[in-house]
Amino acid sequence: MNNILELKNINKTYKGKSENLHILKDLNLEVEEGDFISILGKSGSGKSTLLGIIGLLDNFDSGEIYINNNKIDKFESNNVDRLKNKDLGFVFQFHYLLPEFTALENVMIPCLIQNFSDKKNIEIKAKELLKKVGLEERYNHKPNQLSGGEKQRVAIARALINDPKIILADEPTGNLDEETSEDIHKLLQKINRENKQTIIVVTHSKELANITNKQYLVKQGKLILKK
Ligand SMILES: Nc1ncnc2c1ncn2[C@@H]1O[C@H](COP(=O)(O)OP(=O)(O)OP(=O)(O)O)[C@@H](O)[C@H]1O
Ligand SMILES: [Mg+2]
Repeated sequence: MNNILELKNINKTYKGKSENLHILKDLNLEVEEGDFISILGKSGSGKSTLLGIIGLLDNFDSGEIYINNNKIDKFESNNVDRLKNKDLGFVFQFHYLLPEFTALENVMIPCLIQNFSDKKNIEIKAKELLKKVGLEERYNHKPNQLSGGEKQRVAIARALINDPKIILADEPTGNLDEETSEDIHKLLQKINRENKQTIIVVTHSKELANITNKQYLVKQGKLILKK
């Protein structure tokens, strides 16, 4: 079996003035290529902390992370930046689109940063992705001219532009209505099935969790397999 991601004995503590918060405790996780995984757990249990560590956005105290069988060493930022752009795509609850740029430009940016000379092809690809998420008529809209669900779909298209092996989503439908949420859930499912991209999603939505292949619960600093 080919594990695209492996976490071994990950520990994470937030150091406070008076006390330390030991949030993740010898946490282990193995994710196979093409998996679609949901991470559940009550507020404050450490889900976003975990996703931030998997996404190499945040450091950890001890343990090991392997992405695509490459060991990620703490603090080795060059290596990490390369992997972050190439292998990982992010979708957050609050989309973080850049307000002064159009939908199309927002999708292009993560790719342009790496390869400015290829602008024409990047534009073609960004248009294809926006079409895939149903926004072919919104290329030139700025974020404040898009609805919440549309902004979230732009964020998903943006997460896909570099063909990441792993897509990480933190409550991607946390602030959307039921019907729009359902559309986004189906979109994630489609991406997982058609592109065979691995998806790890943190969610409070039972409906979203139900369409994933495996459900994990974060409890007392560890991951428990539910399904
Ligand atoms: N930068 C930080 N410094 C100190 N404590 C933090 C920091 N970030 C998070 N925490 C604490 O760590 C715990 C886990 O936070 P985290 O954001 O991972 O929870 P979560 O499971 O994502 O919750 P939610 O469902 O509400 O988003 C919380 O109790 C939080 O207060
Ligand atoms: Mg969170």
